[in-house]
Amino acid sequence: MDVDAMKRTAGIEACHWVSDGMSVGLGTGSTVAHTVIELGRRVREEGLDIVGVPTSIATMELATKVGIPLTTLSDAGQLDVVIDGTDEYDPHFTLIKGGGGALTREKVVAQSSNAMVVVADRRKRVDILGAFPLPVEVLDFEWKRTKDRLDAICPGIVTLRGGSAPFVTDNGGLILDCEFGPSITDPLTLEAEILSIAGVVEVGLFCGLCDVVVLADEHSVVISARSDSRLSK
Ligand code: A5P
Repeated sequence: MDVDAMKRTAGIEACHWVSDGMSVGLGTGSTVAHTVIELGRRVREEGLDIVGVPTSIATMELATKVGIPLTTLSDAGQLDVVIDGTDEYDPHFTLIKGGGGALTREKVVAQSSNAMVVVADRRKRVDILGAFPLPVEVLDFEWKRTKDRLDAICPGIVTLRGGSAPFVTDNGGLILDCEFGPSITDPLTLEAEILSIAGVVEVGLFCGLCDVVVLADEHSVVISARSDSRLSK
């Protein structure tokens, strides 16, 4: 299987956790896009009765195109499940997310869901988080001051995503990518430290949210669940 085939396999397998009557958080990225497309197919062809809450404008547009009825957290309340991609996950099921810049909406939706299924290919599994630069969404207002404070705690380079043509999030924010290297052994403390900086909107560390990882490699799909997972396999 090539990488796209692995993403597709994982994305489709995750639909196993969706059934009639559910409200479903719809993540962002190239892997979970396959989930959204498959759920749309089931809505159109099999009459699957779900409502979705998208985590980005891109996912809202895709879900609309494939025919998934959408709602908001205000209307849906707590969701049954969210399915999303990841940039890294460690043996404790802690994630680094935000490679697509949607981390804030993704975390809002994940924290408002009864369970989280993560879809990934084998490149995303790591022993220690941090080889993937940690995305931090910040306000545009005096962002260089916020960057100074991140520079003070990040051992590597902190880069404005997009450089001279900055990437702007769906919320009008900017993304600072922080090169911690594979050194994040206490993600909860680091999350709190980064969130304490004024100007930070959200950090792409997801602690204690992911219940199940659907991992596709060249030959198979492996489903792993956190020891205290809120979902059964
Ligand atoms: C979006 O902001 C991210 O959190 C994505 O979920 C993550 O980058 C995974 O994306 P891919 O499935 O495209 O690798």
